[in-house]
Amino acid sequence: MAQTSKKLVLGITGGIAAYKSAELVRLLVKSNIDVQVVMTESATKFITPITMQALSGKPVFVGMWDGGVGNGMPHIELSRDADAILIAPASAEFIAKLVHGRADDLLSTLCLARDCPLLVAPAMNKQMWENPATQRNIAQLKKDGVSILGPDTGDQACGEVGLGRMLEAEDLLVLVNAHFTPKLLAGKRVLITAGGTLEMIDPVRAITNLSSGKMGYAIAQAASDMGAEVTLVSGATSLAAPKSVNNIRATSSDAMYQAVMSNIAKQDIFIGVAAVADYSPTEQSTQKIKKSTASHSLELTLNKDILAEVANLPNAPFCVGFAAESENLLEYAEAKRQAKKLPLIVANLVAEAMGSDENSVTLLDKNGSHPLPRAPKIEIARQLLQYVANML
Ligand code: PMT
Repeated sequence: MAQTSKKLVLGITGGIAAYKSAELVRLLVKSNIDVQVVMTESATKFITPITMQALSGKPVFVGMWDGGVGNGMPHIELSRDADAILIAPASAEFIAKLVHGRADDLLSTLCLARDCPLLVAPAMNKQMWENPATQRNIAQLKKDGVSILGPDTGDQACGEVGLGRMLEAEDLLVLVNAHFTPKLLAGKRVLITAGGTLEMIDPVRAITNLSSGKMGYAIAQAASDMGAEVTLVSGATSLAAPKSVNNIRATSSDAMYQAVMSNIAKQDIFIGVAAVADYSPTEQSTQKIKKSTASHSLELTLNKDILAEVANLPNAPFCVGFAAESENLLEYAEAKRQAKKLPLIVANLVAEAMGSDENSVTLLDKNGSHPLPRAPKIEIARQLLQYVANML
């Protein structure tokens, strides 16, 4: 069920943001995307083809008459089996060329001869971006069905501040992955809890756990890539939430309960990935508890079970639970699925799942078990959501 490798032509035009394209190639390749770099002559003044070749693992093409392409017609051959072309950075001049369908170098010819989607990440000085000519050109490209990614706002190489800088490599990677992801959850609303919780004992001490939030955030990103409208309720985590989701911070189990319940209406799917504390201190001291020579005991009160309550709502969304266990994984997870009346639970081992970038899980439903072998959490997230989309 792993996503098959997509083929992307990355076109680099002349601009200082070309340095970001080196990191972009590295991230795309790491994300299992097959990248063919094509550069304009001006781009080679900013970053060398050798750098891009080393990062992409493939020869880089610049000139119309470069050798090494099968039929000697690189403008046709290079885009023939591409799933998309991304121009990053796209200079104001190159954007103008695209609008007019000009073909006076390899990259512009490739774009004109393409039979696949074109994505453009503009990068230029803010005055050039704001110029009516550029704005007209961007509007025309959008009309022509070209996807415009960015630009971003912030410090510019020329010393000015404003709109025009290229999106960061990480942001472009997210947008490229989203472009390649089938929209299996289009029109669906998904609510996800992620991370651990923090149950305060006094102003400086708390009960918490080792959940990093990575699994829940990966599911939020994957659901958004699949076209869902995502609400993320984030517990204790230091991660930055995906930009495309509505993120609500709720660090204690009680705050998480309130956040979920006030957003649950109209949700189609609820996925409880958070490691919610089962107990909280019965009383929270407003002042720091002083050390004494005597031993100290802490009274704990059972917290509300958010997932079980959501699953019991009259118009409950499709509920997916998670179970992290240190032993008897499938037995304990299935017991939780039945106790909470869930159509699906995801079983994972604490040692493999907590804090790590990868995970291996087993999906349990009324028909039995379905293992997903070890993979990056974003890949596990995609496979889980494909399974959920099928069940729906
Ligand atoms: O964040 P990472 O570092 O990436 O780690 C991911 C993870 C290991 C935390 C995640 O994959 C996971 O397994 N989360 C569930 C942890 C767990 O074992 O929860 P539980 O057995 O306490 O609860 C079972 C289910 O009920 C979970 O879906 C949980 O979110 C939910 N629950 C539990 C208690 C409670 N008060 N409210 C709940 O909603």
